[in-house]
Amino acid sequence: MSLRKKNSFVGIDLGTYAIKVVEVQSGNPPVVKSVGQIRLPRGSILGGIYKDLEVITDKLKQLLNNLGLKNKNAVISISSYAAIIKRINLNVPAEKDLESAIYEEAEAHVPFDLDDVYLDYQIFSEEDDVLDILLVAAKKELIENILEIVEEAKLLPVIVDVDVIALSNLFEYLYQFQETSLLVDLGASKTSVVLWQNQSFMANRDIGHGMLEINDLLQEKLNLSFEESEKLKLQGGEKENGVVKQVINKYFADVIQDIKGTIDYFKSIYGDGDVKKIYLCGGGAAVPGITKFFEKNLQIKTETIAPFAKLAGKKIHEESIDYFNHITCTAIGLGIRELIS
Ligand SMILES: Nc1ncnc2c1ncn2[C@@H]1O[C@H](COP(=O)(O)OP(=O)(O)OP(=O)(O)O)[C@@H](O)[C@H]1O
Ligand SMILES: [Mg+2]
Repeated sequence: MSLRKKNSFVGIDLGTYAIKVVEVQSGNPPVVKSVGQIRLPRGSILGGIYKDLEVITDKLKQLLNNLGLKNKNAVISISSYAAIIKRINLNVPAEKDLESAIYEEAEAHVPFDLDDVYLDYQIFSEEDDVLDILLVAAKKELIENILEIVEEAKLLPVIVDVDVIALSNLFEYLYQFQETSLLVDLGASKTSVVLWQNQSFMANRDIGHGMLEINDLLQEKLNLSFEESEKLKLQGGEKENGVVKQVINKYFADVIQDIKGTIDYFKSIYGDGDVKKIYLCGGGAAVPGITKFFEKNLQIKTETIAPFAKLAGKKIHEESIDYFNHITCTAIGLGIRELIS
């Protein structure tokens, strides 16, 4: 048995399009030892639910093997789609037990039988018996599934987080910003929006649009297979007489509409200042001109998150550094979680 404090972790992001793995070692800044991704067949994960455990496990094993990864300490996340996250003020008089107060409060926020869910919480502050906490809940079955995947891949699950919380942790490490910001993860099957306010995670909301919608539209319009549509989508530009560009623009116009709605919704509930800046990540952040598109349509300064600039270690080839910056944010947020607190 080793009593040594663990000093390196493998962050694993089970994305619907691809599994991303980043191994990070303690250091100032933290040191990236290895990084990689592997595609998942479409439908293996749907709505945050692991539909095909065997395929996901096999792909994860293959990726770990390709990377020659020996580290066993896995920090993993479930999708925000399948989690309930609420920041709340909770009154806990001194004579009351915290766990039971949280359990009672959770009944009001969790739309499932509490016997079927795991509850977790993080305390931000405490003042006169009132706790400012982040409550997180997820179905037990889902957590058991992800643990099964990780254990089958011969890893030791250290923490199960939620993707948007990992993203928010990364953001805090990278920028420590005061101003109200929006973190937007433009993923394959969802767009996750996090409101960053008063220097912490305030709220999140998922928008039902994901980058795979572009494939569906291209396949329909041009009568293509999925892989053909993927190729055209990644090439972008004026392909197929501008149809590809049109479809991508239409997709992002819809996303922008929903983000406007989300900003209004956040403002109505959390008030406290307008969104000053937007930070993009996820595969969609790799689309050329996307930050300008956001700035023009939302009139809010926009940039993409660039974690590798503030990490040591693994040198990513210049040509693909932007791409890895975008797609590995969640995995890095997971990998550094235990190293930065
Ligand atoms: N340059 C690009 N142009 C257009 N689309 C791109 C580009 N680069 C990546 N993508 C798209 O981004 C998506 C993958 O993004 P990402 O890796 O963030 O998804 P994911 O994390 O697996 O999905 P989710 O978070 O929704 O489960 C794919 O649909 C891919 O086609
Ligand atoms: Mg993702």
